[in-house]
Amino acid sequence: MKIALIGYGKMGRLIERIARERGHEIVAVIDVNNTEDFGSPAFRSADVAIEFTAPQVALDNYRRAWAAGVPVVSGTTGWTAQLDQVKREVAEGGHTLFWSSNFSLGVNLFMMLSKYLAGLMNRYPQYDVTMTEVHHTHKLDAPSGTAITLAEGILEKLDRKTRWVKEQAAAPDELPIRSIREGEVPGIHTVRYESAVDSITITHDAKSREGFALGAVVAAEFTVGKKGFLGMEDLMGNEQ
Ligand SMILES: NC(=O)c1ccc[n+]([C@@H]2O[C@H](COP(=O)([O-])OP(=O)(O)OC[C@H]3O[C@@H](n4cnc5c(N)ncnc54)[C@H](O)[C@@H]3O)[C@@H](O)[C@H]2O)c1
Repeated sequence: MKIALIGYGKMGRLIERIARERGHEIVAVIDVNNTEDFGSPAFRSADVAIEFTAPQVALDNYRRAWAAGVPVVSGTTGWTAQLDQVKREVAEGGHTLFWSSNFSLGVNLFMMLSKYLAGLMNRYPQYDVTMTEVHHTHKLDAPSGTAITLAEGILEKLDRKTRWVKEQAAAPDELPIRSIREGEVPGIHTVRYESAVDSITITHDAKSREGFALGAVVAAEFTVGKKGFLGMEDLMGNEQ
């Protein structure tokens, strides 16, 4: 498979290594200093582009790749306020975007577990729920995209919570997400249920970024030849 990379930072470099190990060819690499290369024959020859950049530029990158006829797999987080609009653009333009706030298989299993637990907890109002996420100090967005997706899963199943908020809950129907930035932590997500007599805590702790990079390459393999807006549920459902 011919892969173009958009964003050659921590994730872009890891993805390059893992893609090569899986027998793929990297035909183009676009970063801030060569964004004119979206129009290059090398970029246009790609079967798929893998995009890991920054929230302010991600949507523009998707549009430029689509204009070049290249489907996109992206893990850039921090732009989900525009998610509905992007989904509309994908549908109306006949484009392809595989997007996930977290490409790790383990995190996606953790999300399923968290949703299941929230469903059980719906019948036990004596438990209040809080979330914490810990990431490296270079991370631009807070809470993390993964924490937001986890929170949305909980809100879907737990009737007594109606929205997530940053740091502190001001009302009983709010689910607080505490964000901690320290060192080079690749990502820790914790969901905690607490009653007067006990607590139940589930945690996913990523050991490195490799799980995300591998997931993105597997998603790219899955995406080629498909249309529309795709996500990890499509990929993992397909693998079962
Ligand atoms: N979905 C996931 O599984 C997952 C995992 C890790 C990181 N992320 C997210 O991916 C994004 C990138 O993470 P990272 O750790 O690689 O960051 P990074 O800062 O190491 O790399 C980002 C790269 O994008 C480049 N860039 C900036 N603007 C650009 C533009 N207009 N065109 C092309 N390249 C441009 C930067 O120069 C840099 O090289 C972040 O939003 C992060 O939150 C997602």
